[in-house]
Amino acid sequence: MSRIVYLVLMIILVNHITSSEASDFGKFMKRLSQSTTKIKNQLMEFFYRFRSFFARHSESTHHSVTARGCGYALDDEPAIYHKQANIISKIKGGDDAIWHTWPWMVALFTNPRKGWSCAGVLINENTILTAAHCLLHAKVSEIKAIVGVHTILGKLNPLNYYSVKSVHRHPNFEDCCKNDLAVIKLMKPLLYGPKINSVCLPISPYLSVKDDDELVNRTGVIIGWGDSSKNGLTNMIKSFTLQQADIRIFSNESCRQAYDTIFDPETEICAGDYDQRSDTMSGDSGGPLLIRESDGRWILLGITSYGSATSPQEAPGVYVKISAFTQWLEPYLK
Ligand SMILES: *[C@@H]1O[C@H](CO)[C@@H](O)[C@H](O)[C@H]1NC(C)=O
Ligand SMILES: *[C@@H]1O[C@H](CO)[C@@H](O)[C@H](O)[C@H]1NC(C)=O
Repeated sequence: MSRIVYLVLMIILVNHITSSEASDFGKFMKRLSQSTTKIKNQLMEFFYRFRSFFARHSESTHHSVTARGCGYALDDEPAIYHKQANIISKIKGGDDAIWHTWPWMVALFTNPRKGWSCAGVLINENTILTAAHCLLHAKVSEIKAIVGVHTILGKLNPLNYYSVKSVHRHPNFEDCCKNDLAVIKLMKPLLYGPKINSVCLPISPYLSVKDDDELVNRTGVIIGWGDSSKNGLTNMIKSFTLQQADIRIFSNESCRQAYDTIFDPETEICAGDYDQRSDTMSGDSGGPLLIRESDGRWILLGITSYGSATSPQEAPGVYVKISAFTQWLEPYLK
């Protein structure tokens, strides 16, 4: 068995190298090291896929995850964090996310009959944040929260579906998009485990930033399946696997330049890509804008609201500034 794996790896490796037309030895060695890194990453991904396929969420996984706290992905293994860090500094456009590194990511079928979908973010065992505009045409009894999934196969598996007890749009929500925030309460609390955990809110002690100024130009991550379309079929095929991309937090002035007075600095953050690469992914409405603190926790800075996130070369995306709503959120967190 191991010999077959070895053989396959060698074939992949040789293919990588020969297809690169290495003309001299230096180039050859560079390609060799790139290829081995790539294969190492693929193996790692395979390992996590394999393991997470069998992952069960139980009382005991729940306790170990809650003991560690919000904002941690998967587990302690430094390798995955290492790889994640690489991706964040490396990618510009959307890239496949590593298997289950974003355990707070929720897919929402807001109107299953019409195939409308959005994303949401898990902030505790039974609370999901999303964009209020996602729930405009939604009936509570019809909304399905799909938690702990990474690919379309997980999304199609009813075992991952959770029913919703109530939805609470911000009272000052305007369509579209002022105060574009909503809370979804689940019927039953979830069990945490390798595929499910909550993200940290941008409050002390999780967020160390005292002043929004310090956030300008920090790297954030957006994740999504690219589900913002209202066409069910397009949603289905748009992105098979969860995508992620890194973007930078813009200053109020840059956001004003892009959106003029539509942008409200009190309640919104905008973020995008200074290099204006054309291949930047779209974030799903309701999905998260995250930053990472030095202790490894991921913090929810924003919820994807509006803007041409599909083409940030035209304008940055605008995100609901969660820190402006922590007081409103408080009663829902109990
Ligand atoms: C943007 O403006 C808001 C509201 O005036 C302010 O609270 C925030 O600190 C500003 N952010 C930056 C990065 O300057
Ligand atoms: C942020 O980065 C941009 C582009 O590199 C630069 O022009 C700008 O001065 C930076 N702003 C701050 C506050 O560092």
